[in-house]
Amino acid sequence: MKTDTAIKQTPETIYLKDYKAPDFDALSLHLTFDIQGDDIKVTNVSRYDNVGKAKTLKLHRGKYPELESISLNGHALGEDAYTLSNKFLEINCAGQDQFELEIVSTVTPKNNTDLEGIYLSDDMICSQCEAEGFRNITFWQDRPDVMSVFTVRIEADKSQYPVLLSNGNETESGDLGNGRHFVTWHDPHKKPGHLFAIVAGDLEHIEAHHKTPSGRDVTIRIFGSAQDITQVDYAMQAVIDSMVWDEKAYGREYDLDIFNVVCAHSFNSGAMENKSLNIFNSQLVLAHPETATDEDFLRVQRVIAHEYFHNWSGNRVGLRDWFQLSLKEGFTVLRENQFGRDHNNLVTERIDEVKLLRDMQFPEDAGPMAHAVRPDNYIEIRNFYTLTVYEKGSEVIEMMASLLGEDTYRKATDIYFDKNDGAAATVEDFVAAMEDASGQDIKNQFMLWYTQAGTPQVKATSHYDAAAETFTLTFEQTIPDTPGQTNKKPMVIPIRTALLNNNGGHIDLGGEDEALLVVTEKTQKFVFKDIREEPTPSMLRGFSAPIVLEHDLSDAQLRFLMVHDTDGFNRWEAGQRLMTKAILDHYKGSRSDFDTNLLQALNDLALELKDNDKASLARMLSLPETGTLFQAIGSDIDPTRLNESCKALETAIGERSLNLLKDIHAMPTAKGDFETTPEAMAARSLKNVCLGLIHAAAPADGIALAKAQYDGANLMTERVGALKVLTSQTCPEKDDALNDFMTRFADYELVINKWFSLQATANSETIIEDVKALMQHPLFNIKNPNRVRSVIAALCIRNVPAFHHPSGEGYKILADTVITLNTLNAQLASRLLSPFRQWTIFDEARREKMKAELERILATENLSPDVYEVVSKTLKA
Ligand code: BES
Ligand code: ZN
Repeated sequence: MKTDTAIKQTPETIYLKDYKAPDFDALSLHLTFDIQGDDIKVTNVSRYDNVGKAKTLKLHRGKYPELESISLNGHALGEDAYTLSNKFLEINCAGQDQFELEIVSTVTPKNNTDLEGIYLSDDMICSQCEAEGFRNITFWQDRPDVMSVFTVRIEADKSQYPVLLSNGNETESGDLGNGRHFVTWHDPHKKPGHLFAIVAGDLEHIEAHHKTPSGRDVTIRIFGSAQDITQVDYAMQAVIDSMVWDEKAYGREYDLDIFNVVCAHSFNSGAMENKSLNIFNSQLVLAHPETATDEDFLRVQRVIAHEYFHNWSGNRVGLRDWFQLSLKEGFTVLRENQFGRDHNNLVTERIDEVKLLRDMQFPEDAGPMAHAVRPDNYIEIRNFYTLTVYEKGSEVIEMMASLLGEDTYRKATDIYFDKNDGAAATVEDFVAAMEDASGQDIKNQFMLWYTQAGTPQVKATSHYDAAAETFTLTFEQTIPDTPGQTNKKPMVIPIRTALLNNNGGHIDLGGEDEALLVVTEKTQKFVFKDIREEPTPSMLRGFSAPIVLEHDLSDAQLRFLMVHDTDGFNRWEAGQRLMTKAILDHYKGSRSDFDTNLLQALNDLALELKDNDKASLARMLSLPETGTLFQAIGSDIDPTRLNESCKALETAIGERSLNLLKDIHAMPTAKGDFETTPEAMAARSLKNVCLGLIHAAAPADGIALAKAQYDGANLMTERVGALKVLTSQTCPEKDDALNDFMTRFADYELVINKWFSLQATANSETIIEDVKALMQHPLFNIKNPNRVRSVIAALCIRNVPAFHHPSGEGYKILADTVITLNTLNAQLASRLLSPFRQWTIFDEARREKMKAELERILATENLSPDVYEVVSKTLKA
């Protein structure tokens, strides 16, 4: 006879088509958390309405709660009245219409290594419930369409846990004697379990107020340790800015009197939008100029905005099921992007969005885990918080917005929010609102963006007929096959286009500077009339659709666009295309030098932009991301050689413009106090880009300048820029700077993460030994996700030549880490696996080595569903 443990269980797949509404409405939920030593006694009193007339109430059971007792309408239930299995608690309630259930159980936060449910972050008790963590706290129909009114009472020792927080309004608090106290919270808005949160700790806070247009006075508080609290002023301003922006841009105001933000040092993801109690990874809320870079500041601002915006897109309007995830995440990313563009440099914010999409989402869409923006099946929903759901999901909504136009789009979102307020919605509800407002047909062809995976490839050819004075653009689209999907239908692709004359001016297109060409057929022609000279087309302006556009423009035309295009995004894009070509020619060995025209054009740009558009210049002098280059090469990639080609181009750019780059690097950046204005940040960013290029061309000069920059630095941005150069070469200055950095910032956990990641991303010959040593460092901690990411994700994602070290040691380090984390924190383990997803595009030796590591992971005992799903799907590629 086989025992259970001998059978390797294949985890169950969940399908969208199997959706069924719940049998029971959850009318209300009263939760009491009695914190006693290491344990918390959780008493769950809920009222149910058996609307489906079902015989059993099936509640989810997570990993942690220890069941103590159950009573139904005040009567204790004997063991025959319920069944407790691994995943469910099933209660016999035949013949009961409305009833009250009391379930008492215990959890022990310090034993929770998954950081899902209730866990300890340092000494603070906190929670993370999305997607399916609420079941790790109590027994519940833990699904997004079961929404209830929550009342939460927390009892704890007053000196250990002076601050006790949950969702909604504080309705009562008081002393319990024996040094204990309690607080009661009531959230009037119905919500699903995944938006619940609890925090208990010895926390300080700062406070600010915001008055909404309807006159509500909102108290905003940010909580953290005494040290944290000195670094949250910027986040507070970001909360206020977000509130003001959403009132104006989407007509949405905040709906409670309190908005709380809590800083957690151990957190699996970035941040979480729990109703009125957002919990943030410290990395995404703390920002002080001496300890955070400008990039960190911008990230904090955007993540604060993102989580705040969920109050409407996600909380007030929820999800029917997890397949609809992009309905809240894609939409909220778009809102966050729009906010970011309004608060910073429109062009460079868009460039950075597209870089992320192209460098990370396109590979996902071309890989073994490719899935639609709305997937139709999953094993583990945690694996579907992907770039496709988030970033492509955002692009899809932005395309609808451009098809509708600004005013109609705003009408549509008003309809969406108003119609679905308090409900659990679907993508169809969103699309219906777009149709209601515009009268356009969205639900047919456009809907393919939600159901067809893969990045559309569009080929554009141009033809000028001088005699007829016509210019014709022909677009041909193909949607690549992806796992489980072939023979795809043509999609709706909006391509913003302008035609430029020889002076760089716009050719009039029906009274406008540009036209929105909407491609709907497999092959489609657009003919422009009365075109008196041969124009240069500027296509896909602002990256108006998430596609790969291939076109027939010559190098000379690309250089023309790089200088003259009035669309800042396309200016950058033209330069990136030229650089990509140059790197590829070098990599393929067809050229060992670089086109002097390109080097000259970059030099001219630097001269033109250094005084008035530093932000764009910093981007234009930076090479394309490796992910983008991998796509351009396609297969059999040797990342080591590719890295050499990139370095060679940087050297050539540096050599061509050395003195100019030194001049720009020497330009003053700070006018007095630290500023986070777009201009101030752009100046610092450009300075660091120049330093890197100087170092590539003249290493000794680069080291000397970097050392001086480090020694004179006041700001983390200046220090990190210098350290990137100093750590890229073995030299005494490197060790001195790293030692100084460690001593100076020993008390700052987030800076120590930078100390780790700077070394894990270094261009060092001993990188593998260095990383192994870092993992043995007393400050390395496998249980702290930020620390793990600062070494492992830094090595495997941001240090491409090191991860792909010919020895295969980079792969081994990743696999070992995943295997260790599989039992401790399966979610983190599964997320770290992403660098393996593309394993089939590399040369044979590397493919074999990656495959062997994936197989080693798959053979591990007790593999979590999270890791199993990613590894098994990845191997099928
Ligand atoms: N709802 C998510 C948090 C989340 C992520 C829950 C993964 C469960 C699993 C939150 O709104 C979010 O999207 N956070 C992002 C940051 C955001 C700015 C894109 C994150 O945590 O990475
Ligand atoms: Zn989100």
